[in-house]
Amino acid sequence: MTVDLLEPIHFCSPSRIVFGPGVRRELPALLRHLGLMSAVLVTDRFFAAPGRPGAELADALLKAGIQCAVFDACQPDPSLALCDAATGALSGHARPQCVLALGGGSNIDLAKVLTLTLVSGAPAASYVGIPSLPHAPLPLIALPTTSGTASELTPGAILVAGDGQTKVAVMDNQLRAQLAVIDPELSVSCPPRVTADAGVDALAHAIESYITLDASRFDREGQPDPGYSGRNPLTLMFARESIRLCFAHLQKAYAEPDHMTARSGMALASLYAGLSYGSAGLHGVHALAYGLAALTHETHGTTNAAVLPYVMAELAHERMDDLCEIARMAGVYSDSAPTPAGALAAAQHVRSLIASVGLPTELRRMGLNRDQLPGLVEAGLGVRRLTKAFPATNAPARYAAIVQAAFLGRLPGEAPRHA
Ligand SMILES: NC(=O)c1ccc[n+]([C@@H]2O[C@H](COP(=O)([O-])OP(=O)(O)OC[C@H]3O[C@@H](n4cnc5c(N)ncnc54)[C@H](O)[C@@H]3O)[C@@H](O)[C@H]2O)c1
Repeated sequence: MTVDLLEPIHFCSPSRIVFGPGVRRELPALLRHLGLMSAVLVTDRFFAAPGRPGAELADALLKAGIQCAVFDACQPDPSLALCDAATGALSGHARPQCVLALGGGSNIDLAKVLTLTLVSGAPAASYVGIPSLPHAPLPLIALPTTSGTASELTPGAILVAGDGQTKVAVMDNQLRAQLAVIDPELSVSCPPRVTADAGVDALAHAIESYITLDASRFDREGQPDPGYSGRNPLTLMFARESIRLCFAHLQKAYAEPDHMTARSGMALASLYAGLSYGSAGLHGVHALAYGLAALTHETHGTTNAAVLPYVMAELAHERMDDLCEIARMAGVYSDSAPTPAGALAAAQHVRSLIASVGLPTELRRMGLNRDQLPGLVEAGLGVRRLTKAFPATNAPARYAAIVQAAFLGRLPGEAPRHA
């Protein structure tokens, strides 16, 4: 698409990004340089085991004279209750000067909320859905071990509420990491399924933010410092590059876990996607995926995968230019003029890529039945902060068409597939 030079830009990112194989070893010297001489390391048992990166990092910090307490009981999809338990477990230690997060999006999100609760001792729930923070958080230093969520770059932390079903967000630009240390070597131990889930999450972030609402049409609801505010020339640039990197490296990172070029390619893809969606925001894919996760208890990447191609196809009219550009990046469309066929080719390519890394592309194969589709649409519409950025009118009808197509695994013009 042609860049609209009149589009407003509100762009937020972490203060520092350090990227590259092995860069995690620079962290103790960097923390000393920044005057951060005490930390809590928030991670899980896998990373804290002897010889693994968490144990090595804690050891290196102590050797550098930096005090380090360790919380190693993080769980996938952390809950508000787990956050409160972590706050309690760490309450016996002096308040640290920073919080270090080591792990996937789950560990980073828990650490983000701890940057608040370790200051106040208040329950995590007291920070959910508030328009501005009552106090500053501790500085967050994040070391992602998956290439997907880019939580280290975003203003939000997603936790599971008391009902065990709903995901709630703690959101503020101050929750973005002060320092993101992105070391692709940390992702080499990811099992293939985690690589696939995270990689498709990165691709969904890139594509969704590439085709989201323009910044000039985004409703900031009077927020002077919005976390998300629509696409602009800067976010589009990062999204485009991220899509290109996902197309080039996702399959290889999945099939050859030790392939460092592919791992670095996907780490960079996740970073660029975060720099795009972390300011532009998301819409229909993530809105529908949250409801799907509540119904199926499938992972974040899998639920995004199941709807992403169908959201693309549904927006073929409104976002034809952008979708044809995606198809050109994939090498499946060469016409310089945008056409519906080009937009469809982009959705088909993305669906094939998702299937090639073993993730589902049909809701009916995820144990869902037709009766559950209206509830899924309702749940998606209920995520107002995302649905308001869906770049088409009549979201209820459009979401209904998306889930119907996703249920059957059928893109426009395709013959019915047998169940
Ligand atoms: N805050 C945000 O902006 C944001 C954005 C997207 C997703 N999320 C959240 O992030 C979570 C998903 O994060 P994720 O996809 O990174 O997965 P994850 O953090 O839930 O990890 C999945 C599994 O992989 C393991 N794992 C992670 N890295 C590994 C490695 N290098 N080697 C071996 N095992 C490893 C974990 O221990 C866990 O068992 C969800 O809870 C989602 O809601 C947050």
